[in-house]
Amino acid sequence: MRRACITGGAGFIGSNLADRLLADGVEVVVLDDFRTGRRAFLRDAAEHPRFRLVEGDVLSPGVLEDALAGCDWVFHLQANADVRHGLEHPQLDLEQNTIATSKVLEAMREAGVANIVFSSTGSVYGEPEVFPTPEDAPFPLQTSLYGASKLACEGLIAAYATGFSITGVICRFVSILGERYTHGHVIDFVRSLKDDPKAITVLGDGKQEKSYLYVQDCIEAILTAAARHEGEGGAHVYNLGTDETVIVDESLGLITDRLGCSPTVRHTGGARGWAGDSPLIRLDTSKIRSLGWAPRLTIAEAIGKTVDWLEHNEHVWQPQVRA
Ligand SMILES: NC(=O)c1ccc[n+]([C@@H]2O[C@H](COP(=O)([O-])OP(=O)(O)OC[C@H]3O[C@@H](n4cnc5c(N)ncnc54)[C@H](O)[C@@H]3O)[C@@H](O)[C@H]2O)c1
Repeated sequence: MRRACITGGAGFIGSNLADRLLADGVEVVVLDDFRTGRRAFLRDAAEHPRFRLVEGDVLSPGVLEDALAGCDWVFHLQANADVRHGLEHPQLDLEQNTIATSKVLEAMREAGVANIVFSSTGSVYGEPEVFPTPEDAPFPLQTSLYGASKLACEGLIAAYATGFSITGVICRFVSILGERYTHGHVIDFVRSLKDDPKAITVLGDGKQEKSYLYVQDCIEAILTAAARHEGEGGAHVYNLGTDETVIVDESLGLITDRLGCSPTVRHTGGARGWAGDSPLIRLDTSKIRSLGWAPRLTIAEAIGKTVDWLEHNEHVWQPQVRA
């Protein structure tokens, strides 16, 4: 790997990946328009001589062409990354995930970029029947516009890999935790408890069983899979997660212990927190483990690190200011 473009590189996972690739000696181009990403997350990277920022929308003409020039890898992390609000904006996942990915693939073809890592999601499994869920689970029925849009991206990547000899590494993440975390249930709970430490509302019955992965473990897994398949051609799918799960109420307990509060908990009820919420996520991670990767942190440790980081980085509580 010589020069890598990270689309969405100012975001939670992308900015951590940028720091890691710079430390590994790679030239890094971050493409981002800061709609959810943060300038502060790139503060260290921006000082680096091997770093370049291309500020713009992936859907705007010329932006991808600029960012991808001379790259041998694309880490395509740009997306609407929030699964929950698809039904409020039914075109959003299609435009920001599927159409954006097709633009990335076309720009790669034109620029001759050979390899792509794609940030997919365990949400593509919908509500699976097999647990732990392997990569080759029976073709899943979709339950969210987010998952459906990401599955369409995977299809495009596999078709480009077949048709244009690129290499696609498709990583289906569980929910990611850690430093620079800006969206998901941990920040929702922490924000709510900061407002009112005495009471909190949990969406659903609190019994939803989920899996999480620490961001540095996620990055290590991505880079392990990328190194294994560089230049090989074809599409290669990996689940990225831990073998552990926690139920939402346990997760809330870990957060309240960390914050030192004991609120009254009200559940909105039902097995799902929202339409498209999967009551049980447990992925089979034996394929990525077979490459020698293993997570270093437990889910409890990752939640603890996330809460600590949120407490020490109040700027993520502030509304996003775009230049
Ligand atoms: N965080 C998770 O738990 C999780 C789980 C599964 C999959 N993923 C996937 O991983 C990727 C990264 O997620 P994240 O949590 O870092 O999200 P994030 O929102 O922090 O990062 C996304 C980045 O993309 C940028 N962006 C969005 N639309 C853009 C556009 N049109 N043009 C230019 N930049 C744009 C945002 O400004 C942001 O910096 C996403 O593709 C997401 O779907 C994340």
